[in-house]
Amino acid sequence: MTKRRIVVSSPATIANFGPGFDSFGLCLDSPNDVVTLRRSRAGTAEVKVTGKSEGVPTSPTENTASYAALKLCELCGLENPGFSMTVKKGMKPGSGIGSSAASSVGGSLAMAALLDVKDREIVLEAAAMGEELISGTRHFDNVAAALYGGFTVVADVQNRKVIRIWPPPFRVVVAIPEVYVKTRDARNALPKTVELEDAVRNLSWASGMVHAMMRRNVRQVGAYLDDRLAVPHRKKLVPGFDQVRDRALKAGALGVSIGGSGPAVFAIAQENANEIRSAMVKAFKESVSLRAEAFIASPGKGATIEESQ
Ligand code: HSE
Repeated sequence: MTKRRIVVSSPATIANFGPGFDSFGLCLDSPNDVVTLRRSRAGTAEVKVTGKSEGVPTSPTENTASYAALKLCELCGLENPGFSMTVKKGMKPGSGIGSSAASSVGGSLAMAALLDVKDREIVLEAAAMGEELISGTRHFDNVAAALYGGFTVVADVQNRKVIRIWPPPFRVVVAIPEVYVKTRDARNALPKTVELEDAVRNLSWASGMVHAMMRRNVRQVGAYLDDRLAVPHRKKLVPGFDQVRDRALKAGALGVSIGGSGPAVFAIAQENANEIRSAMVKAFKESVSLRAEAFIASPGKGATIEESQ
């Protein structure tokens, strides 16, 4: 039967997750973008954006959700069936919690459901094209985590091989200061080459992180949440990062890092999540006079098709 209306809920994600630059991603159980796709006149495309929509384009070729939906059609060798799409943004763009990935996965998965495309690798590819539209590079870490859920490792980017590990239960405390960081700028802040010593440190931490996730050892997850490739160069885009990190650790966090390209700072916790959240917000305020929005989440299950009719 021809589908006419699809609703997809697509979650926030923490890319890099410490040592896994462009490779690791953690899916959160909230916040989510909700993409509603309705079939309309063949070949047409229309987008409406609601919720935390400031700065989100509504042109179908500029909005990541509709762009990913159009790319899904192209990748399947199908014509655009014609659609109107509503994207309810649950997260602001430029926050560091995978806003563009949530929309891209939402758009791509919704179109796949409308056209009865079952291949998840095509959904992932189209979603990564949506990411590329925004950041200038086709990185898979956010989209893989948003689509598959749990903790994801882009193990072979050329062959699009993604490994998913279901993480142990823990809390993720996220604080987003009132600064806007474009992924494109945060990527330009990185050096083109890295020191061998830094590469080796990251390799060790990343290996330890995968082991910790598989062994379901939350303390070790926190202990390996370190990075020498991106965080040292991006700290300047997140004023107060060192102070916020120190205060979160003092309040009981097991590890702290920058979410994706920032400015979100996230902490891993088993207990004291509320205290850690207050400590992080206070540290932004007291050290650099920045207001920060903060929330507590848990690892999530990935994008879901809420309605299909
Ligand atoms: N891995 C990407 C980066 C994630 O850090 O640039 C961007 O959200």
